[in-house]
Amino acid sequence: MRAGRAGRGAPGVPDPVAGPPATPTGAFDLPGWHLIARVMRLRRTLPRSPPRLLDLGMGRGRDLIYFARRGFRVHGIDLDPVAVERARRRAGRRGVPLSLAVADLRSVRFRGRFDVVFSSSALNFLPAGVRRARFACYRAVTWPGGLHAVNAFVTPGGARPFPALGTGAVGFRPGELRGYYRGWEIVEQGAEEFVPPAALGGGRARLEVVVARRPVR
Ligand SMILES: C[S@@+](CC[C@H](N)C(=O)[O-])C[C@H]1O[C@@H](n2cnc3c(N)ncnc32)[C@H](O)[C@@H]1O
Repeated sequence: MRAGRAGRGAPGVPDPVAGPPATPTGAFDLPGWHLIARVMRLRRTLPRSPPRLLDLGMGRGRDLIYFARRGFRVHGIDLDPVAVERARRRAGRRGVPLSLAVADLRSVRFRGRFDVVFSSSALNFLPAGVRRARFACYRAVTWPGGLHAVNAFVTPGGARPFPALGTGAVGFRPGELRGYYRGWEIVEQGAEEFVPPAALGGGRARLEVVVARRPVR
């Protein structure tokens, strides 16, 4: 991934037009920024306006706040109540409406449908054995014509622990993420090199990215 200039948007919120913010660590901000840029480029193609966006494992809400400030109706889930509370406060300070819930990627059910399902650096917390069923659930709550913009770290040779992301994170097999979108239009797919902070093990990691559209039938 490339380094970038400071963003033009709110502090701490990257702006796809200006480029990703430079951070001292090189950090986990960057994967999300790249996905945001992809969604923003495709915004006009979404089924409804304002679009409804779901962020799976939204952490402290950086990406959700970015979308909410640009008119998306946003919903986020995260397992960590502290992160959810931080996101709530962060949004409150900015006067941004967010709908948030403490919920588990592995079991959560959703009400209604979404124009965008977004997830950055969180799907690795799905154990390999539940992924197929969980992706089926995420696909089912997407409007026809809606998008998924997702990424996952890959561990060559199979689903292996990926501690650089956190305890319990497990890598995807190369190509696995793309495989959950058979029958959907693949709008973009790619792989990016990512350098985790040294404190988290350093080295290099490979991040696969998929932007896929649910067929309109
Ligand atoms: C590396 S962070 C990414 C956060 C955010 N998407 C971002 O890009 O900054 C991974 C997030 O996944 C959340 N997470 C881990 N396991 C989860 C689970 N089973 N269900 C929901 N969220 C989970 C963590 O609490 C954490 O906020």
